[in-house]
Amino acid sequence: MIEANHVGWKVGGARILEDVSLTVGAGELLGIIGPNGAGKSSLVNILSGVIRPSSGRITLQDRDVTRASATRRARLGLSRSFQTSALFDGLSAGENVRLAIQASGPAPFSPFRRAGAASGARTEDLLERVRMPGRATTLARDLSHGDRRKLELAMALASEPKALLLDEPMAGVSAEDVDGLAEIIGEVRDSGVAVAMVEHHMHVVLGLADRVAVLHHGQLLATGSPSEVTRDELVQQAYLGEAL
Ligand SMILES: Nc1ncnc2c1ncn2[C@@H]1O[C@H](COP(=O)(O)OP(=O)(O)O)[C@@H](O)[C@H]1O
Ligand SMILES: [Mg+2]
Repeated sequence: MIEANHVGWKVGGARILEDVSLTVGAGELLGIIGPNGAGKSSLVNILSGVIRPSSGRITLQDRDVTRASATRRARLGLSRSFQTSALFDGLSAGENVRLAIQASGPAPFSPFRRAGAASGARTEDLLERVRMPGRATTLARDLSHGDRRKLELAMALASEPKALLLDEPMAGVSAEDVDGLAEIIGEVRDSGVAVAMVEHHMHVVLGLADRVAVLHHGQLLATGSPSEVTRDELVQQAYLGEAL
């Protein structure tokens, strides 16, 4: 579904990413881990079309999208969440989801479209999917951190994506909310979506991912099953001092 081929990215003289190749299939969850500054967010930005790589190719369902905009990629079924929150704080949870549904439709924000009953039902469905039933009228700013993350997920799912990129979807979330979020993301994968997830919570990545890619100084140190990757000597060195 998602493929990166020998992707490199240079800014000025600095090499941020070098020769990164990976694939994510339908119904597969690829965990992307690596120390701070390894290039994980840059990679997500390149996959989603926010950044153009300096070299290499990105394909979505075998279609070359290396030069396609983020909007074009979204239309082809790629959705993403951001490392920092992108919610409208002054709107309710339901209104945030409804905006995401409208933005993903054929004529976003057309003055002639009305948010009808259909979009109301879909809003409810999406909130239920992220275990937030009955939260539709709560203002985003009044939600717990965990619920804000769930709401962002609901918004990323509003376009019914085939592929989903998540950049630290559990950042700042309390320990008890982490497992709930992991369960929801696991269900998204099980529904057939290709998921690439950058995440700091190691036990979540290792428990949830089908495969893990380890980035270090912009290069792939290892790719494999969670147990293969944790046994890898290069990976252990990169994480020296941290519990894997
Ligand atoms: N737009 C940019 N211009 C220059 N350097 C950048 C830019 N974006 C990221 N970097 C640098 O690239 C490296 C990787 O950053 P990032 O992809 O955010 O890492 P991670 O998400 O793994 O923590 C860092 O050293 C960062 O300072
Ligand atoms: Mg990052």
